[in-house]
Parts: sequence; C-alpha cells; structure tokens
Amino acid sequence: MSDKTPVHVAIIMDGNGRWALSLGKNRTYGHYIGSKVVDKITKAASGIGIKYLTLYTFSTENWKRPKSEIRFIISLLNIYLKKTEKLFCENNIKFNFIGNIKAFPEKTQNILQSVTQKTKHNETMTLTLALNYGSRLEITQACKKIAKDAKEGKLSIKDISEGTINSYLCTKGMPDVDLLIRTGSEKRISNFLLWEASYAEFVFLDKYWPEFTKSDFIKAIKEFKKRQRNFGGLRQTIKLFNGTS
Ligand code: IPE
Ligand code: IPE
Ligand code: MG
Repeated sequence: MSDKTPVHVAIIMDGNGRWALSLGKNRTYGHYIGSKVVDKITKAASGIGIKYLTLYTFSTENWKRPKSEIRFIISLLNIYLKKTEKLFCENNIKFNFIGNIKAFPEKTQNILQSVTQKTKHNETMTLTLALNYGSRLEITQACKKIAKDAKEGKLSIKDISEGTINSYLCTKGMPDVDLLIRTGSEKRISNFLLWEASYAEFVFLDKYWPEFTKSDFIKAIKEFKKRQRNFGGLRQTIKLFNGTS
C-alpha cells in the first residue's frame, strides 16, 4: 500500500461471545472462530505492508469472567501459538507479546517465550498479542520502575521526558498506534494502549470479531487514509484570513 499506510494498527477484537450466542452456540465457539480470524488478519496485514499489528487478546479485567471461559481461552492460545509458528516463519513475521504473562500457566509462558525466540529475526511485520494486558497497570508499573531508578540514582528527575516514559512501557521500541480498530459495536477503549494511542485514529465496527474479514480490514485502512491528522496543529491546506498559511 502507498504512503499513508498506517505503520501501527491495533485491534480490540471484541464480540466473540455475542456472535456465538446469536447463533445459539456457547461463547467459547466465538473464541474458537475468532482465533481463526486472527490468522487471516495477520496474513492480510503483513501482505499490505503494515509494520506493527497489536491485538488485544486478554485484558487484566478479563479475569472477572467465569473460570471455564478463561481456561478455554488459555487452551486456545496454546493451540494457536503452536499452529501459527509456521505462518510466522512463512510470512517473516516477528511474534511479540505485552502484558504480564506470569499469570498464565507455565506451559503457556514457555510456548510464548519459545515462539518469540524463534521468530525474533523476522522483519516483515511485528505481531504483538496483548495478554493479561491493561494500560493502567502498564503505566503504574512504569511509574514504579522510574521511581526506583530515580531513587537509586540511575535516573535524574529533571531528565524524565515523554521519551523516558515510553522506554519504561512494555511497548518500548514500538511506534505509537496510528489506527485503532474495534469490532463488536462498543465505542470504548477498555484500558487498551491509553498512552500509545493518544493520537490514534479510531474505526469502530458493528461487526463481531468472528465476522471480521480481510475486506473489512482494507476498508478500515482506506478510511484511515482519508483522515486528516493534525496532532494539535493546523491543517496544511487551511489559509488564515490574512493570507498566511
Ligand atoms: C472478545 O470478545 C474476546 C475477549 C475479551 C477475550 P468477548 O468475549 O468480549 O465477546 P463479547 O463482547 O462478550 O461478545
Ligand atoms: C476488550 O473487550 C478486551 C479484549 C478484546 C481482549 P471486553 O469485552 O473485555 O471489553 P468491555 O468489558 O466490554 O469494555
Ligand atoms: Mg466483549
């Protein structure tokens, strides 16, 4: 894709449960089909030149759900990771995760580390799964580390800048989010990348995640390309009344 292609696309993959229920099935069926959509969109994104794709997979708040649903999501994650390793290698995709994975079973942690390790030299696109991720927790942890380093003299308070904060977040080294897509018709951010998406363009879709297609993805990118981003400044084309621009 051309010049205005977003570098970093983040997706809140919402609506799995409602989609399954609408078909008279269990919520877990929605997660299962949803995981297949992840593969399709990953492939599509790397194919059109997206450099960073970040997917909200499990939030710090999702532990409030029934244990059986959580167990299902975790077992699906294990299967997904093993199966998708091949796709990552074939498409030169670097796998990454953000969030506190220590809350997951050891087996899951090991697979996550292993896939990350095996794909670390791939460079077409970085796919990041947000797992047990919450932006408020991420920012709180960054504050704690900054305070500790300042106390130990590794950091001087007067030198703390936005760049310093960036480097203490788990998205360290990643560019800001350009486009944030949310499926499932809710219009909220649900504690996802609050800092990183400060100037992101939002696209909200009424479709549930299991129904989301490559063509919906391309449409969202097209919508992004039409948006005028100002970052607090003025449109390039606006002429002021005295003739200056
Ligand atoms: C998103 O779908 C997946 C996760 C949060 C794990 P939901 O499970 O939230 O589906 P709905 O929103 O209840 O339909
Ligand atoms: C956001 O969806 C989290 C993920 C997609 C992983 P939720 O379904 O948890 O969001 P809320 O609770 O409706 O805001
Ligand atoms: Mg939901």
